[in-house]
Amino acid sequence: MRIILLGPPGAGKGTQAKMLKERFGIPQVSTGDILRKAAQDNTELGRQAKILMDAGKLVQDDTVIGVIRGRIAQEDCRNGFVLDGFPRTIVQAEKLMDTLEDMDLSIDAVVDFVVDSQALINRLTGRRTCSDCGAMYHETSRPPKVRGVCDVCGASLYQREDDKEETIKKRLEIYQSETAPLKEFYQKQGNLKTIQGGGSAEEVFSRVCSKVT
Ligand code: AP5
Repeated sequence: MRIILLGPPGAGKGTQAKMLKERFGIPQVSTGDILRKAAQDNTELGRQAKILMDAGKLVQDDTVIGVIRGRIAQEDCRNGFVLDGFPRTIVQAEKLMDTLEDMDLSIDAVVDFVVDSQALINRLTGRRTCSDCGAMYHETSRPPKVRGVCDVCGASLYQREDDKEETIKKRLEIYQSETAPLKEFYQKQGNLKTIQGGGSAEEVFSRVCSKVT
């Protein structure tokens, strides 16, 4: 199963990708996570990406396309994957199509999450992420048992640099201009599934499953 998750920042792509990974045993391929890891490891790619990410801007198409090509060629992607945060521009979508065609593969479903803007801002400003295992929390809707500490591995939680309100607004603007046009792109290809992203993560997940299976 090969799935693309579309939707604005905070729509729940990462949350649902992790649930799909658990349920179907396919890897979550998140360009955001890959770039944040590169930044943490202080690689050349990571240093350049961090400046753009912290400002809420997109990383260059060629850079992320290179990252994705390498990642989906890996062994664990052989039986499928969930793309979380890629593609994000028409150029990325076209290059992905070319890459998959070269590999004799195709996308089964493109899931687009619809969530209202105020809910997106609330979700992002309250998000806390584990600095070690990447588990995700929310200050009010999914708090850890002990404030600031990961339930899974005990490491400390942090707030992403780009989850400050001003940067979130910038990310939402860029989503509208660069990423929202992908809905029409995939609608024309006939595999777009639009899902209401409100309600609990479990409720959203059952809507996702009903569309992708
Ligand atoms: P990326 O990491 O992909 O961020 P994003 O797309 O902005 O999405 P988020 O991770 O913020 O939100 P999400 O939809 O995954 O929601 P989540 O499940 O976490 O990208 C970051 C940056 O990297 C970009 O700005 C760019 O610079 C760069 N980048 C990445 N990919 C790129 C690309 N392809 N091209 C160029 N640049 C790229 O949920 C958010 C919060 O809400 C959490 O706290 C969660 O617990 C909570 N929540 C989730 N679901 C629910 C629910 N149903 N009810 C209540 N709360 C919920």
